[in-house]
Amino acid sequence: MADDKEALSDFDERLLQGVLARIWRHLGGQRDSTSRINKTVSPEELKRRLDLAVRREGIDIEEMLSDIDTYLAESVNTSHPHFMNPLWGGTNIASFAGEIITALTNTSMYTYEIAPMATLIENEMIATMGKLVGYEAGEGIFTTGGSNANLIGMLCARDRKLPDAPTDGIQGKELVAFISEDAHYSTIVAANILGIGKNNLIPISCDDEGKMIPELLEESIITEKRAGKIPFCVVATAGTTVVGAIDPLEEIGEICRREYLWLHVDAAWGGAALLSPKTRGLLRGIEKADSIGWDPHKMMGIQLVCSVLLVRNSGTLNKVCSHADTAHYLFSNKSKNYDLGRKSLQCGRRVDALKLWLAWRAKGDEGWRLQIEKYFSIAKYFADQVIENPLLELVIEPSMTNVCFRYTGARLTQEKQDIANEQIRTELLSSGRFMISTSLINGRTILRGVVANPSVSELVVDELLTTIVKIGNELSQIKY
Ligand SMILES: Cc1ncc(COP(=O)(O)O)c(C=O)c1O
Repeated sequence: MADDKEALSDFDERLLQGVLARIWRHLGGQRDSTSRINKTVSPEELKRRLDLAVRREGIDIEEMLSDIDTYLAESVNTSHPHFMNPLWGGTNIASFAGEIITALTNTSMYTYEIAPMATLIENEMIATMGKLVGYEAGEGIFTTGGSNANLIGMLCARDRKLPDAPTDGIQGKELVAFISEDAHYSTIVAANILGIGKNNLIPISCDDEGKMIPELLEESIITEKRAGKIPFCVVATAGTTVVGAIDPLEEIGEICRREYLWLHVDAAWGGAALLSPKTRGLLRGIEKADSIGWDPHKMMGIQLVCSVLLVRNSGTLNKVCSHADTAHYLFSNKSKNYDLGRKSLQCGRRVDALKLWLAWRAKGDEGWRLQIEKYFSIAKYFADQVIENPLLELVIEPSMTNVCFRYTGARLTQEKQDIANEQIRTELLSSGRFMISTSLINGRTILRGVVANPSVSELVVDELLTTIVKIGNELSQIKY
């Protein structure tokens, strides 16, 4: 049983030694491509297997280490070389070390007083990323994810249009915002939280490459204004979730300037393209944005969660979060300009900047450049292999490193192709060999492999495609 009286009891010491040994072992086995990525059991079956209840008396060290072993064994190996499912993967060790130190020092980002070096580190990272997007006098804050960065960006937009909203609310004003039809669902959540409502979030159609069509945006703004609505914000996406499309930021920025609309760019996924001169042109025009969300926990591979909201004009966040000023029990005037809690929607907030800073110090700008270029190069190889294979079809030319494709087989109808692709993913998952995702494009099932994991290689891509074709052929009972 744990003993609270001593700083490091026998229980604590053995627990930490046990955990350190397991970290070593776990990291050592993570990249074994012959191991399973996941265990596919139903929630009911897993519940039956586990004893999760906390008890009246504490457990002993053996049982605790056994709990940890079970947890590790049941976890999905997100650093497995065949893990290509979401927009992130792998373990950046410097970032992982940062997580450990964050937990070890257990503080909160609200005041300089309680998080001195962490505050300066967070400011340094915001300034570094701000420079990369082209902000000269910007500011920013680490958020709990790209979703919340979108929320705060849209909140800044609302408050510029209705400066009294922080005190008086929106008073029945019919605000409307515009998003790409392929925008992340967090923008809808944000519209809900901000009191705007989903129906006042106008989706703008995209072209064949998944990019918002600027002419349609312009038309839609005029239509809404004629209908007596108050446009206040456009959310463009730099790297959509499924296909990685990058909206035409230059053109959209120009429309926003003319119409005096706040432009928020959701670069949760695409922001990392700024790290290489070869890819940064993809985000041409991003400096026109009033605010930008960027998730270092995606392509940069920083441990979850690590997300940043950047804002072009400093002073904006203090105003939007000015309710914090009522917290006399927390903030004093002494460190007013350094207390990051005055720029955040959160009170208690984790130190997420440390892991990014350590990873950046370890890699340098050059290390990021190489990582991003490697991912784009593997994604290009991936797309080329799909194109060359007569049994596969590339659904959309990748802009980022998401590769969307499908197994077509030789004589399958579209309906049968959709079923086959669903089944292929199910089969990949249940075999534990590969993890990729499925999604819908124009109502049809596609497979999506993402290159955002340092262990993914061209060899892995070859293996994945060979496996998919083999499963597809078996499912459609075709002998080639
Ligand atoms: C384009 C885009 N924006 C925002 C998000 C949300 O990011 P988070 O999961 O960090 O909240 C995602 C997640 O995948 C995304 O793809």
